[in-house]
Amino acid sequence: MSEKKQKTIGVLTSGGDAPGMNAAIRAVVRTAIAKDMRVLGIRHGYHGLLNGDMFEMNLRSVCDILQRGGTMLFTARCPEFREDAGVEKAKQVCLNVGLDGLVVIGGDGSFRGARDLSLKGIPCIGIPGTIDNDVASSDYTIGFDTAINTVVQMVDRIRDTSQSHDRCSVVEVMGRHAGYIALHAGIACGAVAVVVPEIPFDIQKDLIEKMQRTLKTGKHHFIVIVAEGVNRTDEICQAVMDCTGIATRATVLGHVQRGGSPTARERVVASQMGHYAVELLEKGIGNRVVVYKKDEIVDYDILEALNMQKTIDPNLYQIANDISL
Ligand code: ADP
Ligand code: F6P
Repeated sequence: MSEKKQKTIGVLTSGGDAPGMNAAIRAVVRTAIAKDMRVLGIRHGYHGLLNGDMFEMNLRSVCDILQRGGTMLFTARCPEFREDAGVEKAKQVCLNVGLDGLVVIGGDGSFRGARDLSLKGIPCIGIPGTIDNDVASSDYTIGFDTAINTVVQMVDRIRDTSQSHDRCSVVEVMGRHAGYIALHAGIACGAVAVVVPEIPFDIQKDLIEKMQRTLKTGKHHFIVIVAEGVNRTDEICQAVMDCTGIATRATVLGHVQRGGSPTARERVVASQMGHYAVELLEKGIGNRVVVYKKDEIVDYDILEALNMQKTIDPNLYQIANDISL
């Protein structure tokens, strides 16, 4: 009787790093080893895959990373992987090292790479990891909860000084194409206005006139949250100063939002997703993404997932506006 061949899977992180990626890596490694699989950790995303930059992981390889931000496997953006020749080369590397499957932790861009590699016969499973929460198929992405909590902590500090000086603080948060961080942080920080790429914003009507109305009710300091993708932070500062005379300061929070220890929620969801991904590969299932949908972890075909649409919740946007008076 022939012995069943031990499966070997790979794991990599790709695109922008996000707090909680380490928790997902840990779950993949520990689940796979518990299921008697070998695990190769691939450094620097698809770049490392193309260059064979990988090492065998064991139970102890993932000690002491659960609470750390960033990714122990490093990450990268790899233009070569967008070309068919790059994906073909990656396939050959996978075949040479005997990879039976690959877990890709990243955003929709990384999933496009995972789709291409799956179509060439290497089963890939995507796990959504990006602080922007802009993966179409998933209600939630690993990193989002930590990022919004970081923004809230920072803006609470800005509020202390803004309030003391009767100023307006315009805070730019991350989100190149999406306003999820801005909207959630805006509500949690009591911003007078939230500016997001998904919804048109009239500075005069939606901000200046609102500020003028609230000034009459005794409000004397203001927080405005702007998603970086809107690219209007300076324009908004200038308009507030010119039209209201209120001293205004801009703060660009930048990469502080990408770092830090993941929240408990992040660690739990990342662990669930990592575990689920390995269960799929164990069954020989590939070309799927593991996502968070209506409080459940489920999986979709990658192609189907990439064709899904998602946008910010208009009710939440309405609430943000209604209660910031
Ligand atoms: P994210 O995964 O966070 O959306 P990127 O868009 O930067 O981040 O994508 C990460 C990596 O995924 C890219 O550097 C590239 O290697 C790969 N990738 C992105 N888009 C594609 C694509 N259309 N086809 C194949 N690979 C892609
Ligand atoms: O991780 C997502 C994101 O933070 C975007 O919001 C931002 O525009 C981008 O990554 C910036 O990434 P980098 O500075 O690594 O190019």
